[in-house]
Amino acid sequence: MNASYGRNIHYLRISLTDRCNFRCVYCMPADMVFTPQPYLLADDELLRLVRIATMVGFDRVRLTGGEPTVRPNLVRLVAGIAQVPGIREIAMTTNAMRLEKLAEPLAEAGLKRVNISIDTLDAERFYKMTRFGKIEQVWRGILAAERAGLNPIKLNAVVVRGYNENDIVDLARLTLEHDWDMRFIEVMPLGSIADFQMDSVVPAAEMKLRIESALGALTPVDWDGHNPARPYRLRGGRGTIGFISSVTEPFCAGCDRMRLSADGRLRLCLLRDNEIDLLTPLRAGASDEDLRELMARGIIEKPWGHGLAQHVIAGSRVMSQIGG
Ligand code: 5AD
Ligand code: SF4
Repeated sequence: MNASYGRNIHYLRISLTDRCNFRCVYCMPADMVFTPQPYLLADDELLRLVRIATMVGFDRVRLTGGEPTVRPNLVRLVAGIAQVPGIREIAMTTNAMRLEKLAEPLAEAGLKRVNISIDTLDAERFYKMTRFGKIEQVWRGILAAERAGLNPIKLNAVVVRGYNENDIVDLARLTLEHDWDMRFIEVMPLGSIADFQMDSVVPAAEMKLRIESALGALTPVDWDGHNPARPYRLRGGRGTIGFISSVTEPFCAGCDRMRLSADGRLRLCLLRDNEIDLLTPLRAGASDEDLRELMARGIIEKPWGHGLAQHVIAGSRVMSQIGG
């Protein structure tokens, strides 16, 4: 049932809100306008869709945003998702600004793991890139996540030419001391800021070269083929280093995921505009079976891959409205 071009689609990334306490330069325009509350899925609507998603084969969930931790009643919502039969794992992608307080209660509610965005260790550049972020607070959030057992901790850095390509080596060095998985991401073009993003791509091959020139060879380690980042290790390293090269080397053939936006649209591919509106039928009284059919159709219609090589840029949303 849940197959698309031979791919097993079982991983649902749910955006809890398009709001964020940052405005990262590679994610959204400085004057971003957010969706008014009534147009977003309410907690009970979201839980219903998660339950229905399990009927078409979804068993893993990742909560994203915007920034998922700015959603009201987050801990209770996570506990609700954890109780849905058929959901085997709940993870979250966060900027960690609010994690110092939230890590422990979230872990108790059933959250298993976190991916944390950290683009540089330099306080000034961090602030410049995120337009709001405080690196010390994020760092405390990372340590709190580790203490709460949200392991393995994955760190994401989007590499943007002219902003942080010289910070890659310091970030890679973190894996020598910490058992953290550091992933470097090529900036992807989406929506109104696509031109800036396209001009800012640092190819993964260049990132790898920069790290190897400074810190020595990267040796490949075991890879499950679905994680978009093939992992490597520095000699003596405790954590791994990976590269998410959606632009220069797409991994669409191994794609196992779809996305549910905060406004209730099933987004079939991150980098294409194809979406199925679930919110409107849900509010018009659709049955579980109607909604299940819509989701199943989404899996069948999921595109074979993105079209960046053909210069097809998805224009309808920026990243914070989809959840990365
Ligand atoms: N390209 C690649 N990654 C992005 N993210 C946000 N915008 C982009 C982009 N344009 C990442 C963030 C975070 C996740 C939600 O998506 O760094 O890790
Ligand atoms: Fe917020 Fe993440 Fe987008 Fe930065 S990348 S503005 S932290 S949603």
